[in-house]
Amino acid sequence: MSQSLAGKEVMVTGASAGIGKASVIALTAAGAQVLATGRRQAELDALVRHCGAGQVRTLSGDLNDAGFVDELAAAASDVDIMVNNAGILTYAPLMDMEFDDVEAMFRTNVLASYRITHAIAKAMAARRRGHIIVMTSIAAREVYRLGVIYCATKHALSAIARGLRIELQGQGVRVSEIAPGMVDTDIRATSTHPAVVEAVKNRKFTALTAEEIAEAVVYAAQSDDNCCTDLIELRPRSSAQN
Ligand SMILES: NC(=O)c1ccc[n+]([C@@H]2O[C@H](COP(=O)([O-])OP(=O)(O)OC[C@H]3O[C@@H](n4cnc5c(N)ncnc54)[C@H](OP(=O)(O)O)[C@@H]3O)[C@@H](O)[C@H]2O)c1
Repeated sequence: MSQSLAGKEVMVTGASAGIGKASVIALTAAGAQVLATGRRQAELDALVRHCGAGQVRTLSGDLNDAGFVDELAAAASDVDIMVNNAGILTYAPLMDMEFDDVEAMFRTNVLASYRITHAIAKAMAARRRGHIIVMTSIAAREVYRLGVIYCATKHALSAIARGLRIELQGQGVRVSEIAPGMVDTDIRATSTHPAVVEAVKNRKFTALTAEEIAEAVVYAAQSDDNCCTDLIELRPRSSAQN
C-alpha cells in the first residue's frame, strides 16, 4: 500500500536543473511541499513560478560550502524525505583527466553529498522517522571507458547509501538508491574531450528523460513505511553492458 505525499516535506538537492527539477515538479504534483536547492537562484525562482509558491520554497548555495550546508540543514531540519540528487560529471579517458575535474567530482558527488546527508540523517534519526533517497547511477555498479572517475564517485556514494541503510534502519530511517543509466540532461556539457563527444554521438540507444527518473523518485517516496525500495535501477532499452 503506498502512502500519500500530501503534507509531506521533501528536500531536493540539485533542483535547479535536470532530474532534480523534474523530481520537484513530480513531487509537488503528488502533493508534497518541497524545499528546493541548487546554486542558481534564477532557476529555482522559475521552479517556484512553475509549481506555485505554496508548494516550493528555495534556498540557493554551494553544497561544497560547509557554512551553506549548516544553513540548509537548519532550514530542512523537519523534512520527512530528502532527495540527495546534486552531482557533477566530467568524462574523459583516464589518462587525459584533469586533476581539478577529478577533485571536483569527488568533492561534490561524495564529500558534499555525505555532508548534507549526514546532517539531515542525524535529525531524522533523532525523530526516529525519515527517508533518504540517493541518486547514484548505473555507474555505481559498472566501470566503463571514459567515465572511470565518475564511476568511482558513484561507487563511493552507493557504498555510503548502503551503509546508512544498515546503520539507520533501527532508527526508523529508510534509505533508497535510484540508479539511472543515461538521462537526457545538461550534465555532460562539461565533457568536451573528442572521444566523449564521439561516443555520445554514436550511442545506439535513446537516453531516458528526467521525468522518467522523477517517476521513480515519487514511487520510492510513496512506498509504505515497511516497504523499503532499496534500489531502483533504470536504463534505456538496448544500453545493457556485457
Ligand atoms: N544525466 C544522467 O545521465 C545521469 C545518470 C545517472 C545518474 N545521474 C545523477 O543524477 C543527478 C542529477 O544529474 P542531472 O543529470 O540532473 O544533472 P544536471 O542537469 O547537470 O543537474 C545537476 C544539479 O546539481 C546541482 N549541483 C551541482 N553541483 C552543485 C553544488 N556544488 N552545490 C549545489 N548544487 C550543485 C546543479 O545546480 P546548480 O548548477 O544550480 O548548482 C543542478 O541542479 C547527479 O547526481 C547525477 O550524477 C545522472
